[in-house]
Amino acid sequence: MASSKLSLTVAVVVFLLGMAGAAHGLTRVVANSPDEPCMNMTLYYHDILYNGNNTAGEEPAARAQGFYFYDKQESLTSWFGFSIVFNSTAHKGTLNLVGADLMGDATRDFSVVGGTGDFFMARGVTTIRTDTIEGLYYFRLQMDIKLYECYL
Ligand SMILES: *[C@@H]1O[C@H](CO)[C@@H](O)[C@H](O)[C@H]1NC(C)=O
Ligand SMILES: *[C@@H]1O[C@H](CO)[C@@H](O)[C@H](O)[C@H]1NC(C)=O
Ligand SMILES: *[C@@H]1O[C@H](CO)[C@@H](O)[C@H](O)[C@H]1NC(C)=O
Repeated sequence: MASSKLSLTVAVVVFLLGMAGAAHGLTRVVANSPDEPCMNMTLYYHDILYNGNNTAGEEPAARAQGFYFYDKQESLTSWFGFSIVFNSTAHKGTLNLVGADLMGDATRDFSVVGGTGDFFMARGVTTIRTDTIEGLYYFRLQMDIKLYECYL
């Protein structure tokens, strides 16, 4: 009796998940290999500290909202947690990233732990590279975003 109740519960959960996917008209796509992401893009993260006179530049593809902090004394490292917020005709939604930035390494990886909107339930890896550092007020990171689980 107990086992038949269990299998009934599992069937209902699977059914509800199926409904959720159908409601959005989306299909889950999982990459078969690291070389074949289901979606990829390159964005540049501009970190601009307000210095009292700097003005907004060109229209951004997206905005980063979140934080980072420096977290070690022995070497220069930081920890990032932020959302890339898309609000353009090309994309609407968010990608949510976290990870350690081991700044001594030429490249390092952040995890894409989720997404919303056009990036519904996305998961993947973002490889970052320091593109430039200009004093205290500006640095730029190249972010190669590769998603390995997408709903398309
Ligand atoms: C990223 O996507 C483009 C197509 O938009 C493709 O040409 C390129 O090979 C992809 N790169 C990787 C590493 O999958
Ligand atoms: C802005 O301030 C910086 C120093 O903080 C100065 O070097 C630069 O010339 C200023 N730019 C303008 C447009 O005033
Ligand atoms: C998103 O874009 C629309 C259209 O340009 C604008 O009305 C809206 O305020 C934007 N939302 C945010 C959070 O920037």
